[in-house]
Parts: sequence; structure tokens; C-alpha cells
Amino acid sequence: SSTRASVGPIPGLINLGAGDPDFDQPEFVNKAVYEAMRAGQTHYSFTGEPDFKEAISEYYKKYGVTVDPKTQVLITSGGSQAIFQAFGAILDPGDEILIMDPAYQGYNQPAAYFGAKLTRARQVKDKKGIFRPDFRNIENAITSKTKAVLICNPDNPSGTVWTKKELERLADIANRRDVIVISDEIYTEFVWGDQRHQTIIDINGMWEKTMVLMSFSKTFAWTGCRAGYIIAGPELMKVVNGVPVGICSVPVPFQKAAVKALKDGWDFVEEMRQAYRKRIEYMVPRLNEIEGMECPYPEGAFYLFPDISELGVPSMKFAMDFFQQEKVRCAPGAGYGAAGEGHVRFALVASMKDLEETCTRLERFVKNLPPRAPPAVP
Ligand SMILES: Cc1ncc(COP(=O)(O)O)c(C=O)c1O
Repeated sequence: SSTRASVGPIPGLINLGAGDPDFDQPEFVNKAVYEAMRAGQTHYSFTGEPDFKEAISEYYKKYGVTVDPKTQVLITSGGSQAIFQAFGAILDPGDEILIMDPAYQGYNQPAAYFGAKLTRARQVKDKKGIFRPDFRNIENAITSKTKAVLICNPDNPSGTVWTKKELERLADIANRRDVIVISDEIYTEFVWGDQRHQTIIDINGMWEKTMVLMSFSKTFAWTGCRAGYIIAGPELMKVVNGVPVGICSVPVPFQKAAVKALKDGWDFVEEMRQAYRKRIEYMVPRLNEIEGMECPYPEGAFYLFPDISELGVPSMKFAMDFFQQEKVRCAPGAGYGAAGEGHVRFALVASMKDLEETCTRLERFVKNLPPRAPPAVP
């Protein structure tokens, strides 16, 4: 069942646990699926439809990058398959793949499946409270077994958007230490403030060293329809294409609808963007008014990742108790790595009314927490 339904019909539940956008795709996209089926576009499609790949290549130009649709784009069933296939292309048992700490949990199981070890580079907070890459930690965590460094940009859960300078530093490390960079960029359309999304793939020498993972799940609120893609250099793409994933691409009618979405879906994306922006601007100050909570404005994506360490409650207990007492789901920060402990993640995938109600319940919940033990006297 869907993440929206899987928690069952609990009256009064507000589910901010999973990043499943609360928007339904526009009718013209639905129609495009049906029209493609009526037109008989229902046959095999290995590695993806050429017109879908061309539309992706056209879209990706907005990041200043020219991609050959024939040799550098592979269609996947969303970001999850892109992760699996990218890992399958490069990981052997005993290899290591370096992710940031904190990091999205969806990398853990695919790495384990391929017998690889996930290692982590702890990030550090800047003055605004946003996690940033620490290049000494990254360098130190790379060993002779490290095949790849994986970044998520813009980041889930922390909302970090990597700067050009940070990407250049990572590219320098990748070139010197001879590791691949896997760049999970599924939140590119959701960057706030005056920062712009930039990609590492066209930084000097990175074309054959980078796999960019993309998905329609967040861009077009397609979590249940499934479409995504990998962009890589032609040589690297041959290896990625060689991974048997057990499915013959994405259903063709959805690929045809995806072409339409890439052409005409941008008003819809802008609508979602405005809604997320409004939610962020409402929620951040309200969370910061709660004593013991510190919540930076995210630079990208639609999650809030407030620091709750002052409250003295482990994040798992916080999330469980908040759910049981106040019927709001959020994700415990500990699930994103050791550096995520002391945080919880709220996915802003609910109406303003529900978010206002969330804040009221959160204030009450925090007020009712048992007082912290005074610091031990030495
Ligand atoms: C950073 C990141 N990568 C990949 C995925 C998986 O995307 P998809 O739903 O397209 O499989 C998610 C989903 O939440 C995500 O947050």
C-alpha cells in the first residue's frame, strides 16, 4: 500500500513522516497515459523511449549541461531503481561506498545487498545550523576499498544545497583519489532563496566519474507512477546499462506522459514550489518559538530537520511518543546516521491547516516532556 495509506485510517493523524508529496498530478498528464495506450504505445522499451530521453536531455540543459540522449541517459523506475542500478554497476562484495552523515536511508539496503560497506563522512553545521560537507572527514573516510562517494544535492534530510566551491572540492578529491561520485539530485526543482542548483557532472574531469540520479517522484509528485533516470558519461553508462534489474524499463504510456510533463508541467511544479515555500516560511519560525528546538531554513527540498538535542530526548523516542500522544508522524534523525541523532525530520507534505495543527500539538507535546535532569555536579 502507499506510504499515505500504510499507517491506516487513524482519525486525526497528520503524516509528516514520508516524503510523499500531497499533490495530485494535473489532468493533462493523466490523459497522456490513456492517449498513449489508445495509440498502441504499449510495447517493449529497452532502456527507455527515445523521445523521453530527448526530453530529459533538453530539460537538463537548464543546468548548463549538454547530455547525449542516446548514450548518456537511462530511464529507471524512479530514484530507488536508479540507486540500485548505480550501486550494481560499481560495487563488489567488500567494497566501500562513502555517504554523508546524516544521509537518506534508502542507500543502506542496496549497499548491503551488493555486499558493500557503507561508510560515512560526518558533516558539520554552519552558523545558520545547516549541515555542510567537511572535506577533511571525506578525505579521511576514503580508503583503498572506496569505490564511490555519494552525495544528495539538494539534501534529504538536511536541506543542504552544495555550493559550486564545495562541488569543485569534491571533484578534486574524486579525481585525486580515483573514486566515482554518485550525485542524487532528485530535489533539484526545490531550491529556496537565491541559491541555484548546480551539478558536479560537468566540473573538470567528472563526466566519466559521475552518475547523476534523478526522479519524477518529487519533481512532478509521481511517487506512485514511477519514472526516473540516470545521467552519466557514455563509457560509464555502458556499465550501468549492463546491470540486470529484472524489469524492461518503465511502462511506455507513463514515459509518454512524462514527456508531456517535461514540456507542459512547469506551472504545476511552480504551484507546488509556492506551496512548499509558504509551508517552510510558516513552520520554521513556529518551531523556533518552541524552547529547546532550533530549526534552520532549508536551502533546498521540502523537509525541516530541527535540532531537538536541548530537549534531552532520543530522536526515536521523540518520534514514537509524539505519534502516540499527538498523532503526528515525523522521522527520527537517528535513522539518518549518528549525526542525525538529536534531530527529527518533518516532511512538509500536508496542508497549511494540518501544519498549523502540527505546531499546536508539538508545543503541547514539548511542554509536557518531563523536566531534564540538572547537570551532574562534579
Ligand atoms: C534522496 C532521495 N533519493 C531517492 C529517493 C527515492 O526516490 P523514488 O521515490 O523516485 O524512488 C528518495 C525518496 O524519498 C530520496 O529522498
